Amino acid sequence: METVLVSEISYAKAQATFERLSSDSGFEFIPVAEDEPSLAAAIRDRGVSAFIADIHPYTGELYQALPQGGVIARFGVGHDSVDKELASANGIWVANTPGVLDNAVAEHAVWMIGSLARQVHHAHGSTAAGEWKPATGIEVRGRNITILGCGRIGRALSAKLHHGMGMQVTGYDIMEDPDFSSADGIDHYTTSLDDALAEADFVLSLLPVLESTKHIANADFFQKMKPGARFINSARGALVCENDLYDAIQSGQLGAAALDVFEAEPYEPQDSAKDLRSLPNVLLTPHIGSNTEESNAGMAEHAARNVIQILTEGPEACPNIVNP
Ligand code: DGY
Repeated sequence: METVLVSEISYAKAQATFERLSSDSGFEFIPVAEDEPSLAAAIRDRGVSAFIADIHPYTGELYQALPQGGVIARFGVGHDSVDKELASANGIWVANTPGVLDNAVAEHAVWMIGSLARQVHHAHGSTAAGEWKPATGIEVRGRNITILGCGRIGRALSAKLHHGMGMQVTGYDIMEDPDFSSADGIDHYTTSLDDALAEADFVLSLLPVLESTKHIANADFFQKMKPGARFINSARGALVCENDLYDAIQSGQLGAAALDVFEAEPYEPQDSAKDLRSLPNVLLTPHIGSNTEESNAGMAEHAARNVIQILTEGPEACPNIVNP
């Protein structure tokens, strides 16, 4: 039976699914430490051709350790942690799992918005500390939210906010002529970032990390937002200049922020004097947007299917390859 190594973090998120796949797919799925040297040694020792990767970034040895025609399958949709050029140069296929995590990430974003609106994190912290500090919140109904990135997750979120919460949604993206339906709940669409930021009470980022989007949320961006508006990042830490975000909150330009993703994960401040954990109006979660029982089972299933398709039927059988 062929062995597939699985990041121990991904394995733990969906152990029952990987165990079932090991008993009925003809492949054996085994957890492995994620750090690149141990992973590369395990691949060589066991002679395996495929690895299912969590979010840990890989920059070197992994690509030499896997054989030509091998597979790196992301347990997730974002693939910025995998060096696609290096993978292609070494004849390795890279695949991801679009679709199965959209609802999980969109729901998490809704809870972040709600927590900022009603300061749930403060209310819990102070009440649990034995205090009684009722704070006044805002209602989101009728408020403007801009969603940066109108792909599947952006549309799933927009539908919930527009149809479920009565928010006015502006979508921002680069495509000139997107084919939204009324079910998507996007009230206004723009390709102008200035337009997208100007009127929003909340700005929420779901953009991919590209040369053009790295640190897109910087001092200039925060300056263009309405004073007191709230910023949320549900996509990737590299989109935000965390030092600029610190300054924008500290100065009162922004009212609050919620981050699920960080420039360094686990979170470490980019500048020790600008530690986001020290700001009371910042809500931080440890990259859990897609981390639900339902989505984890789906990502395990789809990552395993990608590996099996590529290894048994060839890359043309797999619709989720992301490197040329
Ligand atoms: C993704 O799928 O990219 C999520 O961020 C979890 O890794």
